[in-house]
Amino acid sequence: MDKQIQVQDLTFNLFITETTIQQRVKELGEEIAIQFKDQNPLFIGILNGALIFTADLIRACPIASEVTFMKVQSYAGLQSTGTVTTQIGLQQDIKGRSIILVEDIIDTGATLYHLLPDLQKLAPRSISLVSLLVKPTALKYPLVIDYKGFEIPDKFVIGYGLDYNEQARNLSGIYQLKK
Ligand code: IMP
Ligand code: MG
Repeated sequence: MDKQIQVQDLTFNLFITETTIQQRVKELGEEIAIQFKDQNPLFIGILNGALIFTADLIRACPIASEVTFMKVQSYAGLQSTGTVTTQIGLQQDIKGRSIILVEDIIDTGATLYHLLPDLQKLAPRSISLVSLLVKPTALKYPLVIDYKGFEIPDKFVIGYGLDYNEQARNLSGIYQLKK
């Protein structure tokens, strides 16, 4: 795994290795399995960022479950825009279901904070939040995050689903912007 990479105009340093990510994903999957055993939870991955994390998390969670995706967007380049638009909505009925919303990263919290009331209107049994990464010092909205992979500093990161101008989602590790 490269220790340093160049993406367009920016340089990034290796921050969380593939091995460390996979170990943590396994722990999260096992924790979720204990809580949701016999509930057939529906994982909802938030595209595009959570694509890879969702795929790994459901395989690390050894219980009956279902998976679907939604696409929402709040980011352009390096910064949150503060508004959230839904580009692909839910395709199925979630009434009475145990929902596990899967995010790659919670930064300001705007995306989930604005999405949650829309999902709550659909009368699920419960909605739990899981995010691989959380930037606690960037959080601006009150969110209860049920499962966190790693708490990280408020610096821009890419890889394992996270992008810089749509690039670098395919990296197996997570890389942090070099200052
Ligand atoms: P929030 O709405 O501010 O919490 O931001 C959530 C979304 O912004 C995430 O799902 C990511 O898609 C994107 N995002 C936030 N921080 C980063 C980052 O450091 N790198 C890449 N994408 C990010
Ligand atoms: Mg995202």
